[in-house]
Amino acid sequence: MNTSSRISPQAKAWIITGPTSGIGRRAALEMAPHGTLVLVGRDPGRLHEVENEINARPGGHAVSVVCDFADLESVRRAAVHIVALGLPIAGLLNNAGISPAQAVQTAQGWDLAFTTNHLGPFVFTEALIPHLPDGANVVFTCSAVEDPERKPAVAAGFRGARYVSAEASLRGEWLPGGASMPGLDAYATSKQCNLATVFAFARETPRLRFNAVEPGFNPGTGLSRDANAAVRFLLKYVTAPLAPFVKYWSTPKLAGRMIAKVLTDESGSTGVYYDETGRPMLGSVQIRDAEFSDRVVAETRALLADISSQAS
Ligand SMILES: NC(=O)c1ccc[n+]([C@@H]2O[C@H](COP(=O)([O-])OP(=O)(O)OC[C@H]3O[C@@H](n4cnc5c(N)ncnc54)[C@H](OP(=O)(O)O)[C@@H]3O)[C@@H](O)[C@H]2O)c1
Repeated sequence: MNTSSRISPQAKAWIITGPTSGIGRRAALEMAPHGTLVLVGRDPGRLHEVENEINARPGGHAVSVVCDFADLESVRRAAVHIVALGLPIAGLLNNAGISPAQAVQTAQGWDLAFTTNHLGPFVFTEALIPHLPDGANVVFTCSAVEDPERKPAVAAGFRGARYVSAEASLRGEWLPGGASMPGLDAYATSKQCNLATVFAFARETPRLRFNAVEPGFNPGTGLSRDANAAVRFLLKYVTAPLAPFVKYWSTPKLAGRMIAKVLTDESGSTGVYYDETGRPMLGSVQIRDAEFSDRVVAETRALLADISSQAS
């Protein structure tokens, strides 16, 4: 791939993960006028479609980096590749994510949602942090389903995040009393870990900014790809058109616009969690406890060190 002809040397660069579908794709399109986009995804064909779409726009500059967030070696290679591009990175959007309906494991037997949604982006972000200039903005696409008090999420079957420990999460074990559909606890817990990462990193590294967004319920994105055909049809063609009119709901276009605003915000805010309208919001009682988010981050680092030592 000849990336150099696609890179604008003066412009800022923005890393966007999960730009091949749903919210991330719309966020990438919204970010296109702001500089060079580094599109990070697992499927080269889908990545190149978005890359070509952006490069066909006047002033559009995008390059693709292949990365599977469920594979930590792939994540480390992608971070090295991005650093080697030598771009003036102004921001990173950690948006790639999955929500499997069932408990699914990686080839190593790790919980797939926890690995893809939390461990992969955590490793990616930690690998990039030393290379980010002061003031760079790191944003995570989180989810209010981590909050057991969030009524619409409870109505949809969620019981909030069920964190026991990072090790237990890797094994797919959650606090008892969770959702009847097994995948929901994994998803809610992994998204709470994203929020914990934002809040703890914001305290640890004040030279950078770390913020979180709750994009709203966006029916009809690829996140519900595990649902049966009838549910997918309903979400895409019946529920999605209602989204702009329902509280807490959104569309990829609106969410992408809100995310682009947060990612390019120059106010210096850090450790802020924004709702689907771009206003600051509160997370669950648990995630508001700084000790808890520090514990999640410390346990994640210990787990990753353990995994690395077992691999070597
Ligand atoms: N939709 C909602 O209602 C909602 C609500 C709250 C939060 N969110 C969050 O918003 C984010 C985007 O979700 P979405 O609704 O836009 O879903 P989506 O349409 O399925 O998009 C997910 C993106 O993540 C990528 N991805 C998934 N697994 C990956 C992996 N192992 N490695 C690399 N990339 C991977 C997908 O790539 P492929 O195209 O290759 O599959 C896709 O680009 C997620 O973090 C989700 O948790 C969504």
